[in-house]
Amino acid sequence: MYTSASLGFSAIAIAAGLAGASFAANLVEPGGTAAATHQATFAQDEFGWQLFFYVNQQARLDKAGVPDDSKTSFAQYDPDKPVVWETWALATGGELVFAGVGDASEVFKSPATKPVAWDELMRPEQQKVLAPSLKSSPLITLQPGALRNLPAGTLQAELTPDPGIAGMDETRMNRVTYETIRDKGLYSLEGLDRAYAAAEATGDPMVVDFEQAAKEVKARWVRIDQPNECNPDGADLNAAKRRYHWRTLTSTDAAGQPEVQTWGLVSLHIITKDLPNWFWVDFGHIDCVDVPPGKGEPVAPVDTTTRGPNAASGENGVRNETRGTKWENYVMHGTQVAFTDALGKETILSNPVIEQQNQNSSCITCHARAAIAPQSSNLQPGPSIPGLVGKTSSISPGVSFADVGVPDPVFEAGDQRYRQIDFLWSIPFRAYSETEN
Ligand code: HEC
Repeated sequence: MYTSASLGFSAIAIAAGLAGASFAANLVEPGGTAAATHQATFAQDEFGWQLFFYVNQQARLDKAGVPDDSKTSFAQYDPDKPVVWETWALATGGELVFAGVGDASEVFKSPATKPVAWDELMRPEQQKVLAPSLKSSPLITLQPGALRNLPAGTLQAELTPDPGIAGMDETRMNRVTYETIRDKGLYSLEGLDRAYAAAEATGDPMVVDFEQAAKEVKARWVRIDQPNECNPDGADLNAAKRRYHWRTLTSTDAAGQPEVQTWGLVSLHIITKDLPNWFWVDFGHIDCVDVPPGKGEPVAPVDTTTRGPNAASGENGVRNETRGTKWENYVMHGTQVAFTDALGKETILSNPVIEQQNQNSSCITCHARAAIAPQSSNLQPGPSIPGLVGKTSSISPGVSFADVGVPDPVFEAGDQRYRQIDFLWSIPFRAYSETEN
């Protein structure tokens, strides 16, 4: 019986002998070590790719977050099967309760209950669950707390997988992130109040400080079985299946009949706590490197491992390891490790699809504003959401795509002092009350 580690090691040795043929499986999750911090600091783009390779291997179907060790190469896939990050715990999906789909989130339930132990996460899930992007739905644009306050029924159309929506997202967390949220009770509003009070008692500006091995991903999917924003003319489905990581799901068509749809991965944000302000990297499909016309100026991708005269591991954005596989169609848009560069200039990083509103935005700056204040202090109705009168509103100060550089250190609004929730926006956006639906 091989252990994961020993199989990973021998797989690397085998692949090294097959010059350029395929890329070895990496069965050990990168990150959480001093070496990872070093790489995240000094070889950022390489670290980004190592994360990409790890999380995009085919996963085991019986466990959450474990690569399938019968696949010895990054190039070996069975059709329509999850990769590792797709078996991490699902943060999104809670709002689908309102669309009659059921409470799909594995972390933020409505009403909030303690998530199951990691080893009890059901794999395979019933089916893939995609949710409308918070950043592109006109009703819930960047309004923390907005999901909690959705008037039942009114968003049914928006919450059903529908090509008319700019895109469907999926946000997931690895075991370390999940267990921290579970153990510290950060999955409910009441738990957040308790964590806030504990931080206040010790004067800690942060409600939680995730462990170094914490990771999250956010993915954007579009339907590849019909025209979409990256392929407005549509494409041959079989050809598209060779060029995309794709999954099928059963939804309903315009007439309300069950319909099997094929969705392709177009964007992937990956973040790890290997640096104190997290390590940020973004990937996307080459069909979507340009923002749709009229939606902003494209920003040239930066990847020193595959672009420019000193690129050692690929060419024109394509990594050598991915050649001949569907993954050769995914490029890195860049990495971000600090608010400003060595000269004090603001850093930017964005995905052409997910952040199409503003390509000059900054992951790290927007996320640094993720913060909470006690619920009881904050009872104003939300300003821009219909149907919210009298309901609890946002629990953290909003941000905009225009915020770049070092964030304003003062986290105060009204009479409230907000405390940081360690860059994870989904917590204030998605936590529900333990008592109400
Ligand atoms: C203007 C604000 C903003 C910017 C800029 C932004 N994000 Fe986010 N991000 C959000 C919000 C809001 C969520 C919560 C979405 C949800 O729960 O559905 C989120 C969710 C995420 C998540 C899931 C973990 C979490 O925080 O809940 C990841 C990972 C992520 N973003 C990565 C990135 C990366 C990488 C970039 C830059 C390429 C980026 N984000 C840019 C606002 C932003």
